[in-house]
Amino acid sequence: MRILISGFGTVGQGLAEVLLLRRGFFMERYGEEASIVCVMDSSTYASDPSGLRPEELLDRKRSTGKVGAEGYRDPLKVMDSVDYDLLVEVSPTDIKTGGAGLVNIRHALGKGKDVITVNKGPLALRFCELVSLAKENGCKFRFEGSVGGAMPIINLCRESLVGENITSIRGILNGTCNFILSKMDNGQPFEQALKEAQQMGYAETDPTNDIEGYDSACKVVILANSVFGKGVAFSDVKITGISSITSEAISLAASNNMVIRLIGEVSEDRLEVAPRLVPRGHPLSITGTLNAAQVVTDLAGPITISGRGAGRVETASAILSDLISIMDDRKKR
Ligand code: HSE
Repeated sequence: MRILISGFGTVGQGLAEVLLLRRGFFMERYGEEASIVCVMDSSTYASDPSGLRPEELLDRKRSTGKVGAEGYRDPLKVMDSVDYDLLVEVSPTDIKTGGAGLVNIRHALGKGKDVITVNKGPLALRFCELVSLAKENGCKFRFEGSVGGAMPIINLCRESLVGENITSIRGILNGTCNFILSKMDNGQPFEQALKEAQQMGYAETDPTNDIEGYDSACKVVILANSVFGKGVAFSDVKITGISSITSEAISLAASNNMVIRLIGEVSEDRLEVAPRLVPRGHPLSITGTLNAAQVVTDLAGPITISGRGAGRVETASAILSDLISIMDDRKKR
């Protein structure tokens, strides 16, 4: 399997680490490596048809801030110059236009390449178009890490629960907001908690996307489309963020044995992100940067999962699960 990675920030580097850690696993399961043949960061690229060494890529990025010696202007030209099977698109997300990620994904699918992405912008804005494009070109298109990071919510619903009628999913889909609200539970002011979340590297480049609920809304769109087959976009979600939640509201909730959590919700008649009162001890009253989701189904009843919603190798672990699924499918053919 020849992989082209677009984006070598936290997640791209995490993927290089994970591929290094799982080299033996791939050899044993498939008799071949999952080999990185090209990596592009925002201004440079490195490529080698016989495979780049992940440890060298990581070292170079660490010491020079760049992944390659070659600069580029047009990512599509770089993509076209490389012989690859799979694009892993993990460049910074743009939830207003879809950004370069959208262009790269369209290009790869158009050329019949499989794609894995955790890039929320393209999925929240152009989900149906991209899924159709993948289908037309006979490509696999997977995006587990785009919702809940390491928490395997999409594959749980689409694979393990495929025989169920899923009636709703409610979840904490943004670690930054959950961290801030948990800190506010302990009396910390909003601004100070936000600063801490940014220092931990959890918040988006523009934290407005976290605190105003836009990041959660992207994830709601991805769940609505991929699990419920709704065919919706970002503009269809009713969104209220957490920026106007006061310490008084938090104290009032606490006096009723409740906490306030930012909940994303998808059901037959609801597509919404809003702060909600959650009883203490409820599975969605979790604290810190964790994500959680409660899936309600007709046969199994409610199923709750939680896990790390972001992070270097955590998000890469979701990419790994998509990669294994794609490689398993190829092996069957
Ligand atoms: N900013 C996001 C969060 C990162 O806080 O959950 C993962 O999408």
